[in-house]
Amino acid sequence: MTQKTLEISNISTRYGQIPMLMNVSLEIRKGHIACVLGANGAGKTTLLKTILGMVKADTGSIKLNGESIDHLPTHKRVEKGIAMAAAAFGTLHKMTVEKNLKMGAYYINDNKLLNERLEQVYQSFPILKERLNQKAGTLSGGERTMLTIARAVINKPTLLMLDEPSLGLAPIMVEEVFRVIKKLNEKDNMTILLVEQNAQKALDVSHYGYVIQKGQIVFKGEPDELRSSEYVENPVAG
Ligand SMILES: Nc1ncnc2c1ncn2[C@@H]1O[C@H](COP(=O)(O)OP(=O)(O)OP(=O)(O)O)[C@@H](O)[C@H]1O
Ligand SMILES: [Mg+2]
Repeated sequence: MTQKTLEISNISTRYGQIPMLMNVSLEIRKGHIACVLGANGAGKTTLLKTILGMVKADTGSIKLNGESIDHLPTHKRVEKGIAMAAAAFGTLHKMTVEKNLKMGAYYINDNKLLNERLEQVYQSFPILKERLNQKAGTLSGGERTMLTIARAVINKPTLLMLDEPSLGLAPIMVEEVFRVIKKLNEKDNMTILLVEQNAQKALDVSHYGYVIQKGQIVFKGEPDELRSSEYVENPVAG
């Protein structure tokens, strides 16, 4: 049987009286990248927050590696291996890149292991290695995005969730960010839930995709099925 890292069934949430997610179901196979595509306000970040337990689900269930996590508070879900990287979570601007990474790895007590993990992160994110002693607040937007991802990756999460990593970046950095995402998946076998508005780029690295509109999954399928669906705009050739 195929192993599923994440299985969400019929999740519904609301903000006060206003329904947000409605009967959302989604799953990610171990070792895969699944993307969730949707416009502003569709409920993408709410979905990630619900998986982390930061937003309460009224109905439905969430399983990580076959085990229910519904009853767990956010910090326990993090301990179970769910990591989220989002621009909104920011970096500690007055601290160096290295210190930010160490904060991300706060639960690693063993210095040898910590140094090993830092070394692995520098290999995946060479751009950060060059800037270890630079304050995070002085990084470029792209470098800061890399730092937020690296900070999540240093714990070798079971599930890495990325909330619009390409947002606001120059095209060359967008390429670089997606290259890193693909490498994390292919080289480190990391399972990734990728939330994006950049459908084309997201589909290029994903194994499976979902489209969310107004809190509902309206389409799902292989990247090619999404590309040829009415939900994904194809760029004009040339
Ligand atoms: N804490 C909150 N209280 C009330 N409404 C909220 C709250 N957070 C989000 N919303 C609303 O829920 C809807 C979905 O928000 P969400 O942040 O999940 O969208 P999104 O798909 O991530 O959008 P974006 O692409 O702009 O990040 C929006 O209409 C938003 O205004
Ligand atoms: Mg969002």
